[in-house]
Amino acid sequence: MTDSSKTATLTIDGKSFDLPLLSPTAGPDVIDIRKLYAEAGVFTYDPGYTSTASCDSTITYIDGAKGELLHRGYPIDQLAEKSHYLEVCYLLLYGELPKASDLEAFEATITRHTMIHEQMHNFFRGFRRDAHPMATMVGVVGAMSAFYHDSTDISDPRQREIASHRMIAKMPTIAAMAYKYSIGQPFVYPRNDLDYASNFLHMCFAVPAEQYEVDPILSRAMDRIFILHADHEQNASTSTVRLASSSGANPFACIAAGIACLWGPAHGGANQACLEMLKEIGSVERIPEFIARAKDKDDPFRLMGFGHRVYKNVDPRAKVMKQSADEVLDLLGIENNPVLQVAKELEKQALDDPYFADKKLFPNVDFYSGIILEAMGFPTSMFTPIFALSRTVGWISQWKEQLSDPAHKIGRPRQLYLGETARDYIDVEDR
Ligand code: SDX
Repeated sequence: MTDSSKTATLTIDGKSFDLPLLSPTAGPDVIDIRKLYAEAGVFTYDPGYTSTASCDSTITYIDGAKGELLHRGYPIDQLAEKSHYLEVCYLLLYGELPKASDLEAFEATITRHTMIHEQMHNFFRGFRRDAHPMATMVGVVGAMSAFYHDSTDISDPRQREIASHRMIAKMPTIAAMAYKYSIGQPFVYPRNDLDYASNFLHMCFAVPAEQYEVDPILSRAMDRIFILHADHEQNASTSTVRLASSSGANPFACIAAGIACLWGPAHGGANQACLEMLKEIGSVERIPEFIARAKDKDDPFRLMGFGHRVYKNVDPRAKVMKQSADEVLDLLGIENNPVLQVAKELEKQALDDPYFADKKLFPNVDFYSGIILEAMGFPTSMFTPIFALSRTVGWISQWKEQLSDPAHKIGRPRQLYLGETARDYIDVEDR
């Protein structure tokens, strides 16, 4: 990683400081500034971390200019086409595609940890029925830190692995329970005879009153949505999990912090916000009005599902998601879905508009995922919980990677202070 022959020289007030350049296996070189403050007495300033590498990692690589996304070197479109979510989970966690026997053992472990402690059912009943399912998930996942004491010695690799398996296995159950609670239906227990995606659909849509058969095209589309959201380098919620875990916090509490961050409309909440925006637009005729608003500097409105901090060409996940959207809507015979018509026309008009082309604002992963989820029968409030369910393996893989590095330390950024300098207290009668 460190190539001593390459350095960057910083000159401040005539004094030069040589900073090592670190060479990646892919992507830009990195200036190592770890000693900068000690040697030069200055901080760097990068509030949105647009030019800052917070860590080194071997899990996911993104090339925003090329629209490339690799998980342990494998392109996302190949994984979406040829793999399935639990195999991608194994790849993210362990670094290699599993042999058949390892995959079978891993899937058996995950399958047999999908139930949550029966006493945890009580947590749901403390929420109002109209609570957003993300609020419920933050609460219940955080509460897991009160239940699983036997896998929280994070210095023990085996306990880290147990916590990882528990999180991946139980998140669909928790998400489905949050949904069932919000619609006043009884919880549906996981079934070990169903694959991961089918099990989730069954827990969401089955009712005790009748048999529910999972359509294989829907479970395949669900599994593909899980794959496409699994991990994404050092995005806001993953960085939240890394920062929380850097203090040695309970793993389940760290994942709850990641869920809270993902909820925001600028991040994982965009899929819900995108579909609500498409519904607000309502008809193809109103698209120009909303595009004008998105371009208006004085209007805070943004096109939800467009733009990305890193992808400045195309979000490779959106391409695969668009193909799934067509398949699902054809199956459900709603290819004339008015929301989809608005989405397709909005995409066309936005991409033809110089404002979006010049600012490299293209449809991102959230643009089409919401359309598929709505077509499947999920309310918009369940879109981000499904994103959180999918991203759990990414959060936990990055958590595991950070804790496996003996050199890791607590994350503690500094600041550019613009406040008052020291001044004396003034008694209230003298103010
Ligand atoms: C996800 O980080 C990840 O990897 C995230 C994610 C993952 O898998 O974890 O990929 C998942 O969060 C996808 C992004 C979902 N969010 C949305 O769809 C919300 C709408 N998008 C925007 O809020 C925005 O594009 C961001 C937050 C995604 C990215 O913002 P940036 O890179 O910080 O860009 P910016 O806010 O500085 O905007 C640059 C310019 C601005 O105009 P100027 O001030 O330069 O004139 O582009 C404009 C912005 O006003 N702009 C938009 C826009 N997004 C940016 N204008 C209209 N509509 C938009 N959607």
